Amino acid sequence: MNRLNKEQNLGEVVAMFPGAARIFNKEGIDYCCHGDRTLESALLEKEIEVIGFLNEINKSYDEFLNSKEAYIDWRKEDPNKLIENIVDTHHAFTYRELIEIDQLLLKILKVHYHHSGEELKTVHKLFGALKTELEEHLIKEEEGLFPMIKEYFKNPSEELRDSIMKLVGVIENEHTGAGHILQDLYRETNGYKTPEGACTTFNLVYKKIDELEKDLFIHIHKENSILFKII
Ligand SMILES: [Fe+2]
Ligand SMILES: [Fe+2]
Repeated sequence: MNRLNKEQNLGEVVAMFPGAARIFNKEGIDYCCHGDRTLESALLEKEIEVIGFLNEINKSYDEFLNSKEAYIDWRKEDPNKLIENIVDTHHAFTYRELIEIDQLLLKILKVHYHHSGEELKTVHKLFGALKTELEEHLIKEEEGLFPMIKEYFKNPSEELRDSIMKLVGVIENEHTGAGHILQDLYRETNGYKTPEGACTTFNLVYKKIDELEKDLFIHIHKENSILFKII
């Protein structure tokens, strides 16, 4: 069984288990700018009990590994098949949901404008930023990075590998950026909890953003921790 351990650095933990980002965020652990620190040193600094934390995070990690999506061991599959899976399932889902959620958000913003307070306006802004970032990101992968990776597996060369790794750096930064917006959304919505008595559309929108986030975690995991590691 794969386990996360205290000697791993924070960046590595998030690469293996994207859901760790939310856990770190909850504890105020900065895995992004201080991703080179070990998990142990970050926990000690925050005075968090190491063994208890490791048990909890490994429980979530097991659930993630056992979830239907993460179950296929993509490391053993043809990379072209992995790329196809990423584009056909995760990219298709993300494009569709970004548009649907955007329209639904606009609808509830209009209906609840006078009595929703600041929360909906902030969510609308954050989601708009996420949509813009992600749409360009998906296209960058489909039109730029993925064709280069496919070509590399057909005709490998050091030169092509260097260009790919440069672009991978950009792509990974964008993953981190999207992760930050998702954290803000999670915080602003209190973990996607709608106010009491919220209408059906309101509940639906938060549920959809929650599902989009879960899919993005699996999606980014496949890219950062599997596809980019086999190049
Ligand atoms: Fe992607
Ligand atoms: Fe990506």
